[in-house]
Amino acid sequence: MSAPASPDPELRSHRPERRSGCTVVVCRGCCCGNTSKHPHTDHDEHIQRLAEAVAGQPGSHLRISSCLGMCSWSNVVVVRPRGKDAARRARWLGQVLHEPDISALCDWISDGGPDRAEIPVALERLQIPMREETPLPGR
Ligand code: FES
Repeated sequence: MSAPASPDPELRSHRPERRSGCTVVVCRGCCCGNTSKHPHTDHDEHIQRLAEAVAGQPGSHLRISSCLGMCSWSNVVVVRPRGKDAARRARWLGQVLHEPDISALCDWISDGGPDRAEIPVALERLQIPMREETPLPGR
């Protein structure tokens, strides 16, 4: 019979790391990503850059969505944190059409998104005012 293992302080203090990351939902419905409606935006490049930003963040994902019902705000992107109250903390962004917007969004994702960093000032003006009952995309 072997003696019980002595308690290891490092193991005792080990806690599962808090799950981090976010889900970035990019709308590509009828209006978002539409080159006729937004001819001066490189929509494919935006997807590529967001995919690269998400790939660098463990626990983060990129989803492409059909119309999210906010066409007047196209292009729409939703950044959803993890956790049970993700819907409340999700940030809906509209008129994400220009290079500085995508750069700020990629930087925010790289910083960990809503759970880890305040929304960049450059993105605050793009936030879509939401109602409580607005459904959460990409579940
Ligand atoms: S196509 Fe994006 S909100 Fe409708």
